[in-house]
Amino acid sequence: MLKTSDLSIEKINNLLQDADDFSKGKVLKAKDEVYVANLFFEDSTRTKTSFDVAERKLGLKVVPFDISVSSVNKGESLYDTVKTLKSLGIDLCVIRHKKEKFYDEFKGIDIAVINGGDGTGNHPSQNILDLMTIQQEFGKFEGLKIGIVGDVKHSRVANSNAEVLRKLGAKVYFSGPEQWFDEGTIINGTYVSIDDLVKEVDVLMLLRIQHERHENDEKMKLSAEKYHRQFGLTKEREKTMKKNAIIMHPAPINRGVEIADELVECKRSRIFKQMENGVFARMAILKTALEERGFEFM
Ligand code: CP
Repeated sequence: MLKTSDLSIEKINNLLQDADDFSKGKVLKAKDEVYVANLFFEDSTRTKTSFDVAERKLGLKVVPFDISVSSVNKGESLYDTVKTLKSLGIDLCVIRHKKEKFYDEFKGIDIAVINGGDGTGNHPSQNILDLMTIQQEFGKFEGLKIGIVGDVKHSRVANSNAEVLRKLGAKVYFSGPEQWFDEGTIINGTYVSIDDLVKEVDVLMLLRIQHERHENDEKMKLSAEKYHRQFGLTKEREKTMKKNAIIMHPAPINRGVEIADELVECKRSRIFKQMENGVFARMAILKTALEERGFEFM
């Protein structure tokens, strides 16, 4: 589970089926002792905690690993850290790192790796939980209109979600500040103005503005108030959405920026449902990754 484009439609459907079974109460436990560690070199609340919960629900042995007190701070490389954990008996690592494709370094290490987010690259477990949330709502992907709004350039969620949704038959549209869409940013959809997009789509996916990735890019700078007025989901824009359209956001949310504070928990918001689904999607991902390496569940 390194990037969503690696996954066949059959594999995506199997993951969604497993995630759905777990959400309906299916219980599976690892037959043997399996040791896992979660290495988060970038901050996380949802991904780290939901992997932790998912691992415990599957009966895996979670070995605490805190980057801030590890030998990473003495200069140990990512390769040596993972090779060391393998030597100590860890069978699977979930890793989030700011370096795109960090996992290419581990090709020679006999350990399962799940990508918890690589820079602006991919966030496959977010993709699966997003698909699960859309499928629960509409029961299909074919013909759905999906709008993705905001910081597409820096989002590891946007283009991988768009790619897989298109593969599954949905139509994908993007919107946001045009200066944020360099040539080549949109590879899996069509750019539409925000007011047209909001009226048209079945699923409105809002993206967090990734201020931490804008530091040296003057072109990306836009005040929160201006962003909300020009591109955010305001209360006025929400009123123009289709009757059964839903709102999604991977979170964390900048309330009052990407979305009006009052809309975060409104009737059509599935933002907290996405988080709930995150545990089941990650259980499915862990089960699949471990089964592929010969571990069994009962
Ligand atoms: N959506 C997401 O990846 O959230 P965290 O950064 O809190 O893990």
